[in-house]
Amino acid sequence: MAQHEVHITAPEVFWSLMKPGRYKGAHGGRGSAKSHTFAEMLVANAYMAKGFRAVCVREVQKSLKESAKRLIEDKIESMGLSAYFNVQQDRIITPGNGVILFQGMQDHTADSIKSLEGMNVAWCEESQSLSSRSLELLRPTIRAPGSEIWFTWNPDNASDPVDQLLRGEDLPPGAIVVRANYSDNPFFPDELEQERLFDMRHKPERYAHIWLGEYAPSAVGAIWDRKTLHENRVTDAPELERIVVAVDPAISNEAHSDEHGIVVAGLCNNEAYIIEDGSMKGNPRQWAVRAVAMFDKHEADAIVIERNQGGDMCRHTLQSVRPGLPIIEVHATRGKHVRAEPISAEYAIGKVHHVGVFPELEQQMCMMTASGYDGEGSPDRVDALVWALTELFPQMVNKKRKRKRDHAAPTSWMG
Ligand SMILES: Nc1ncnc2c1ncn2[C@@H]1O[C@H](COP(=O)(O)OP(=O)(O)OP(=O)(O)O)[C@@H](O)[C@H]1O
Ligand SMILES: [Mg+2]
Repeated sequence: MAQHEVHITAPEVFWSLMKPGRYKGAHGGRGSAKSHTFAEMLVANAYMAKGFRAVCVREVQKSLKESAKRLIEDKIESMGLSAYFNVQQDRIITPGNGVILFQGMQDHTADSIKSLEGMNVAWCEESQSLSSRSLELLRPTIRAPGSEIWFTWNPDNASDPVDQLLRGEDLPPGAIVVRANYSDNPFFPDELEQERLFDMRHKPERYAHIWLGEYAPSAVGAIWDRKTLHENRVTDAPELERIVVAVDPAISNEAHSDEHGIVVAGLCNNEAYIIEDGSMKGNPRQWAVRAVAMFDKHEADAIVIERNQGGDMCRHTLQSVRPGLPIIEVHATRGKHVRAEPISAEYAIGKVHHVGVFPELEQQMCMMTASGYDGEGSPDRVDALVWALTELFPQMVNKKRKRKRDHAAPTSWMG
């Protein structure tokens, strides 16, 4: 079969990656063409080396929609190579009967990972989330002659495994690492440019992290750290014994006010699982509708609300959406960070797991210190998280809290 010419449109900053290398990495801020470039590299390799086998991995992949599959399909088309690839439901068959697979590292065990031994390339997308376990499984597994391991990521923390591997003093042999930013991307779309300018004005503290690929700001003395969050992360929650939706309503109703923290958590075998962060801006009716929707979606046992700010308002708002809802009112007698500390201790001993990634919540957590919150605005998501976990781990609360419990008969739910 006559070979087509393959064109890679990669920005110049990536050109050094176009030669063989055991480890290839590109890190940088949003919109720097990392994903597009690696997808093109993968398609070009697959086209040129018959029988090429690759796996695209992420730490957590709940569905193929989260994977690079769609992007790779688009690249096959835009590179004019559709005739040579066979796109299937969960994989792509490459010329010469090779394959591109899409997998989550957390779904692998020490045994199952052996299925990847024949791979020519493993591409880890969003590899700032890669755990040290995953990296340890992957590195010796990708062992075919000339095989390569690729990493693309938006850096979070210098202690993350991928940063330790590829941004340390002592790089592994055959490593090629580039840093890319939006300004290196000639295809940088106008939509993203508008987003960037908005963030520059409204999130000055986070701007360098989001757009320039700097490490995420963590407060000095923060009571949570990203490493712990990453290492405890899971893909799926087990069967949960008890589920609560915790709400920390923002005080004011104004359009640009703080968010209402809404966090869903559950308990299994004395370990807690954060299953959704549904925090939002909006009026009281809107947060109440959201909270009740989460209650239904997760078949929760109760809604936990802080009664400090609105007095009985919060209860009334919730009950106007769903009369007879089981509500647990909590009352803050201590400062936010004082309440948060025992919860962070549970994280430190591995008893709290995030089911998937919650970027905004986790950012707030890493700005929480023993003496207060160091981030922008107010840590509404952390507050809701802390209320949810305090309810689930009541033995940690050394002060008795006053609670009002409403357990309504099911009929009154109908309103
Ligand atoms: N080779 C290309 N051809 C056409 N458009 C491109 C190309 N590379 C990048 N782009 C454009 O630039 C945008 C950003 O690229 P890409 O998504 O690859 O960036 P990224 O570095 O992976 O960003 P993020 O950190 O947000 O994942 C794309 O949405 C696309 O519009
Ligand atoms: Mg990307």
